[in-house]
Amino acid sequence: MCGIVGYIGKKQALPILIQGLRDLEYRGYDSAGVAVLDNGKIERVREIGKVDMLAKKISNVIARSASDEAILPKKETASAYAKASADRSAALAVTLTGTIGIAHTRWATHGAVTEFNAHPHIVDGKLAIVHNGIIENYRELKKQIKDKNFESETDTEVLAKWIMEKYKALSIKYKGEDKANLLIDAVKAALVEVRGTYGLVVLHADHPDQLVAARLGSPLAIGIGEGEYYIASDVTPMLPFTKKVTFLDDGEIALINGDGLKISNLDNQIIEKNVTEIDWDQEKAQKGGFENFMLKEIFDQPTVYEDALRGRLEMDAGTAKMGGLNMSQEQMREIKRVMIIAEGTARHTGLIGKYAFERLANLPTEVDFSSEFRYRDPVVNKSTLVFVISQSGETADTLMAAREAKRKGAVVRGIVNVVGSTIARETGAGTYIHAGPELAVASTKAYTNMVAVLLLYALQFGRLKHTSLATGQRILQSLLEIPEKMNEILKRNNEIKEIAEKYQKYVNILFMGRGVNYPVALEGALKLKEISYIHCEGFAGGEMKHGPLALVSKDVPVVAILTKNQLYEKMKSSIQEVRARGARTFIIASEGDEEAKEVADEIIYVPKTMELLEPLLNTIPLQLFAYHVAVALGRDVDRPRNLAKSVTVE
Ligand code: AGP
Ligand code: GLU
Repeated sequence: MCGIVGYIGKKQALPILIQGLRDLEYRGYDSAGVAVLDNGKIERVREIGKVDMLAKKISNVIARSASDEAILPKKETASAYAKASADRSAALAVTLTGTIGIAHTRWATHGAVTEFNAHPHIVDGKLAIVHNGIIENYRELKKQIKDKNFESETDTEVLAKWIMEKYKALSIKYKGEDKANLLIDAVKAALVEVRGTYGLVVLHADHPDQLVAARLGSPLAIGIGEGEYYIASDVTPMLPFTKKVTFLDDGEIALINGDGLKISNLDNQIIEKNVTEIDWDQEKAQKGGFENFMLKEIFDQPTVYEDALRGRLEMDAGTAKMGGLNMSQEQMREIKRVMIIAEGTARHTGLIGKYAFERLANLPTEVDFSSEFRYRDPVVNKSTLVFVISQSGETADTLMAAREAKRKGAVVRGIVNVVGSTIARETGAGTYIHAGPELAVASTKAYTNMVAVLLLYALQFGRLKHTSLATGQRILQSLLEIPEKMNEILKRNNEIKEIAEKYQKYVNILFMGRGVNYPVALEGALKLKEISYIHCEGFAGGEMKHGPLALVSKDVPVVAILTKNQLYEKMKSSIQEVRARGARTFIIASEGDEEAKEVADEIIYVPKTMELLEPLLNTIPLQLFAYHVAVALGRDVDRPRNLAKSVTVE
């Protein structure tokens, strides 16, 4: 998510930091900020919106600070003048000169998009931090922090104060040479007690030749120049200056000072790192070395999925705790029906949510297109819980539907990716899916995190009465095992590519699934049609003989999901029916299922999981399949024709 830039060396830091933020803009963000250290003083400017707005604000601030006293009030009284003058110099004597600094583009997770919540956060005018990620236990830490003057709503400021407390405690003990390690040791002491994810950079006014950087979950690269270092979320900002880069791994912390770069772990073991020569151009670097954003985002899934679960599982009680639900158990018990409204991929996740709510919570659940919901006469009332799901949070149809549901008195909750987006704001309650910026038009990682969040909601309602503790715990355990299994599937990327290349020649392709895998078939078909322009449709397996079977011939292949669940035999029969009509079949099957080969021309195996969780895995080979077919056809995968990432018109 979002971007970090840091610089320490002999050049002026500000232009490098601002250009660095621009290079990271593609990652998506909602506000930005920069802090530069000079002469024992940290100067900071932050602004919501684009980096350009930040740059503009910086030039205004610098220009004003250089101007004369014209803006001071008349000398009415000596004391008023003195105060105004002091305020002015504090506010305006900002030059942002200095050769060490940090900068950030924020993609809000905790706290609204405001200047106060933007990074860098500063404690006591001495310590500045930029952070990407989520501090899961920030509430617990906040309670323990003595200084209760919080300027922002962020988890990051809590971390900053936490580090400062450790710093103060250590500074009493540290003397002489130890002082050189004071800052890094304080950061280490703080991080040992932190749960969550971070990529962070810290600077301290009393350590003007040091930057400390640490990583757990959020990437950080360090570029090595001649007597200077660059730190950034990816290598893009450093490429114009150096090609020599080292990448921090999880659990590593770097001290960058006059003597160079020292990397260790939280147990104080020194780590020898390889330095890599980067030969990517900037564009490739932005895509993390992948050919395009869609492929990068598919591969992001195991990581960002963990962010969707973070802080939301209660293992002992076998349930989930969705902060944004904002309902007491009493209020939850009053809910008699669930409705899910969304469009496209987001609606497909709703169809999966329906299975989960009905099975786990015994709540009748209806799913509708936002665009249909608004124009019918939906029967909703205060005992109906309406989830509106949207990656962008700006989809006009979904926004209008949310308003309509609210107007009719339903309890409306958003499930949204983009923080502070219109739907997030208007629903006022709900859950962020924490998938990070999704740039490819075809949604992949947002889908996965929407499914995860819906499963958690269904479990939370389920545990009120219908679902047992043991089942709840089994679901949580299985949810935790998903990332490893996703990685298993991603390793089959090349196998899937070979299969995809054989399917590029078809004009029509059908997708088939049953139960929870019916929405997976719909999603597979949508993904392939939107980026390859091949005509694709998804069907429920049992429905084929009621019409769609007429389409099947040797020229119309069928992609089918045949994982080992309660509908396995039924699904197999449906596949046999299409094969009997000459269709070529590409089958997604459970690992170890040799029998599945009997009905497959091509087959990809996926690890087993609980039936309700299967979509989290079974969709991934279909995303990769769509991707490789589109690439083989020479399509613009990230920006398919006629489509937009955020559909803000009805
Ligand atoms: C997904 O691949 C599509 N681009 C599209 O169906 C999308 O899911 C739909 O437009 C909804 O968008 P939203 O999640 O931003 O509301
Ligand atoms: N959790 C932090 C915040 O909300 C960091 C978000 C980010 O990664 O930009 O400010």
